[in-house]
Amino acid sequence: MKKGEKTVFTCQVCGAKMPKWMGRCPGCGEWDSIVEEKQIPDYDLKSKIDIQYPEPLTKISTEKIPRIKTEIEEFDRILGGGIVKGSMILLGGDPGIGKSTIVLQVMGSLTQKGHRCLYISGEESPQQIKMRAERLGLKDESLYILSETCMDGIIPLCDNFKPEFIVIDSIQTMFTQSLSSTPGSIGQIRDVASLLLQWTKKNDVSCFLVGHVTKEGAIAGPRVLEHLVDTVLYFEGERNSIFRILRAVKNRFGSTNEIGVFHMSQDGLKEVKNPSSIFLKERPEKSPGSAIVSCIEGTRPLLVEVQALVNSTTFGMPRRTAMGIDHNRISLLVAVISRRMGIEMGDQDIYVNVAGGLKIYETAADLGIAGAMISSFLDKPIVQDTVMFGEIGLAGEVRGVNQPDIRVKEAIKLGFKRCILSKGNLESCKHINSAQLLGVSSISELIDHLF
Ligand code: TYD
Ligand code: MG
Repeated sequence: MKKGEKTVFTCQVCGAKMPKWMGRCPGCGEWDSIVEEKQIPDYDLKSKIDIQYPEPLTKISTEKIPRIKTEIEEFDRILGGGIVKGSMILLGGDPGIGKSTIVLQVMGSLTQKGHRCLYISGEESPQQIKMRAERLGLKDESLYILSETCMDGIIPLCDNFKPEFIVIDSIQTMFTQSLSSTPGSIGQIRDVASLLLQWTKKNDVSCFLVGHVTKEGAIAGPRVLEHLVDTVLYFEGERNSIFRILRAVKNRFGSTNEIGVFHMSQDGLKEVKNPSSIFLKERPEKSPGSAIVSCIEGTRPLLVEVQALVNSTTFGMPRRTAMGIDHNRISLLVAVISRRMGIEMGDQDIYVNVAGGLKIYETAADLGIAGAMISSFLDKPIVQDTVMFGEIGLAGEVRGVNQPDIRVKEAIKLGFKRCILSKGNLESCKHINSAQLLGVSSISELIDHLF
């Protein structure tokens, strides 16, 4: 430490400062939020570095941002058309879901196009990576592998090596010697990421950061990581299902919520080009409790099957289990159905599942979820080839959703003949005549069209 330099410990949540490190902040009670910070005592503002002069908005060139295609179409699409030069992409997901596999495939594809790529792993040895690469059929010479965890060594190495793309697998294993805390701690993750960010922006190098996910689903480490990077991608899907869904949660260079669908095969992740038909492939025919919903994920329509099982409770407390849908949404819909339709499901166990491991965040699925639950409760299958979408409000009203015509067209493309939607959406679908469009304005009208 230089003379006069001072170290303080700051809580990253409430900003409290203290003279020594503590496990828990005495100010706000947060655990593991205290980070060591060095203060330079006589910092002189006058010696500030030269920065660019502001430009008038009209003078800024709007030339297209250069993108590099990975030639893995689904991957390019979720990024908004390819990797933007100099961008930093965070890839999160559960262990074993395929993060290392997809980044290695992307690097393989980029090296084939003649780019110089560096894959830095803090988790696996070069031999292990080689074994994976062999499975994926990669044998390009310009893909370089490094097993290293010390950032203070990696940065100077990159200065010499001059890669065009870097992968850090994973950010939680990396550390910098300027902090005494262990790799994976909040301070380390933050410092390592900002070191990298500075370097990649200066050298216009694109970088992938692989990040672990905590039980709650957030990327382990500070939220600050999500703020730092340009794009956040999350891997969704059950580990025992073969489908893997890659979702752009944040994207400075494209639309968010864009998804790419892959399936895990013997030799890597393969793109699923028409996910709607895949998700519907194993759908049971004429079975109560199954409803098809037309969703929009990012810019693409997607048909999914929502399944519900409503069964009388054997124990006192009824169970509510939701997979792929927000648990609270189910409770809300059960309450609305009971109040507005007189269908009493309060004393029933309810299980709702989205087939294929997809997660639906859209309220447009409400109508389908309600339909599936009612169908299971009454033990009657919904009329075949029916698709539905619409948001349900607390008064039982069915509200319109965005892009109804795209949703209907996707359903028709897959052979659906009937579509239940809100009356409000009917207008924008007027020109479509190859399917029967059934408009409903309240949930009580839904039952007329289900069976
Ligand atoms: P991996 O990319 O190591 O997961 P992560 O980095 O997210 O922890 O993927 C691991 C799983 O994928 C593992 O269970 C094996 C399986 N796998 C295949 O089925 N086929 C393949 O070609 C590869 C490379 C992995
Ligand atoms: Mg891995």
